[in-house]
Amino acid sequence: MKQINRVFLIVLDSFGIGAAPDADTFGDAGANTLAGIHGTGKLNVPNLISMGLGNIDGVSVLQKSDAPTASYARLMEKSLGKDTTTGHWEMAGIISHRPMPTYPNGFPPEVINAFEQAVGRGTLCNLPYSGTDVIRDYGEEHLQTGKLIIYTSADSVFQIAAHESIVPVEELYRICQIARDQLQGEHGVGRVIARPFVGEPGNFRRTENRRDFSLLPPAPTVLNRLSARGYDVIGVGKIGDIFSMAGITETYPTHNNLEGMKITSDLAQTDFHGLCFVNLVDFDMLYGHRQDADGYAVAMSEFDAWLGEFTKKLRPDDVLLITADHGCDPTDNSTDHTRENVPYLVYGASIAPENRGTLMGFDTVGEEVYKFLTNCTMTEERNRALIDNALTARKQSYCPYSGFAVGAALLAEDGTIYTGANIESASYSPTVCAERVATFTAVHQGKRKFTAMAIVGGKRGEEVSAYCAPCGVCRQVLAEFCDPDFPVILFDGKTPKTLTLSALLPESFGKADLGAH
Ligand code: THU
Repeated sequence: MKQINRVFLIVLDSFGIGAAPDADTFGDAGANTLAGIHGTGKLNVPNLISMGLGNIDGVSVLQKSDAPTASYARLMEKSLGKDTTTGHWEMAGIISHRPMPTYPNGFPPEVINAFEQAVGRGTLCNLPYSGTDVIRDYGEEHLQTGKLIIYTSADSVFQIAAHESIVPVEELYRICQIARDQLQGEHGVGRVIARPFVGEPGNFRRTENRRDFSLLPPAPTVLNRLSARGYDVIGVGKIGDIFSMAGITETYPTHNNLEGMKITSDLAQTDFHGLCFVNLVDFDMLYGHRQDADGYAVAMSEFDAWLGEFTKKLRPDDVLLITADHGCDPTDNSTDHTRENVPYLVYGASIAPENRGTLMGFDTVGEEVYKFLTNCTMTEERNRALIDNALTARKQSYCPYSGFAVGAALLAEDGTIYTGANIESASYSPTVCAERVATFTAVHQGKRKFTAMAIVGGKRGEEVSAYCAPCGVCRQVLAEFCDPDFPVILFDGKTPKTLTLSALLPESFGKADLGAH
């Protein structure tokens, strides 16, 4: 594959292409955003069709292209969520095993009390509410009392609505930051959202000064990795907010799709080197949530027309990726997001069109962005870093009796690497292996979730030249803290070899046998 210089990753916010296999557990059986907007008769997307959108697995409403110009797939989400943050984080490599907290009965008193105290204002509402209804129903009282309108939705959001004449926008943003700082851990909602509005009672309307304050990603993402390596990571639209700017080198917040598309076109004329990550939010915010299938179809057609022009600006060493973060079927009798599969189109002069079927995980996107730009996968790079750390740690081995020096490097979920070397004893049995030194150090530092471990061993004073697998006791210790698919990377001085923990310790005795979790 030719070296890629620029990747444009465009997220069509909420553009699902059909219910995910587990959609019923989200109350979304049968949801299909694409089919819903297609049903209006107003969807005109010749460019997406020629790329292969209609050829994707499970897409039946669109024409199929005889010779698609892009490589195309259907993506399924691994994370247990259907919100913007979860979807974008998964694209960037973070799988969320627990859904973000939601508040169908409003926020508990401890949350509201702490917030009121910190901002010095009272609050109104505190219920799940539609954004337009909430200002209609509470706007007047807010004008009279200055109390903030707090509401949520089916999503993990803490929303604060205030009239721009009562709480100036900058002051509202400051208040949101206070809420963001408070809402961590158990109450770590996906987003705190500033919802300013203007107008008179009976005629209130929201402004485009909405701002999202997202939770910081719990671990480094592909964005951090790219920017750490010197690549440009440019966010357009709410990308900067979604990642709390972590790993982003430049941000262009936008007010609507038109602006997002214009900025993206302008960026295509510049010589950046790296990723341009774009979110087009109107599909979700203006049309999906408001059940406006016609509006959604028209907006998608406008995007398609822009796309036809945009692809002409692409250079031979550019790649364009088009995907979505979740669904929001405007025809499903609910204003909420829908658990759907999403499209994944990969287009560029160096991309051979093919049907890639159905791929598991939105993280496919981030892995491929990384590979396009660096020619190396994140997994290969992670393994390399762990092996290097294990080799360095091995130099600290205290092994006067066996003369066999071992080093281990354990990667914690938050990105920290813990290392260890074997430490022997004259009475032999107190000897502790490298793997346990690393693991116990990490656990003692408060870490409980781990991503991978590398192990190297061999005769002291000599280069590593054979694989050294962990002893039975270390396997048991790893099984205490790591999942069955936890990768254990061995190295013989030449080629890394990865084994899973379940392969190293099948049918193991563990916490489940003792009824512990
Ligand atoms: N050892 C480790 O540190 N890890 C392993 O996976 C295998 C064995 C150490 C223990 C002892 O110090 C030496 O290697 C010889 O058994």
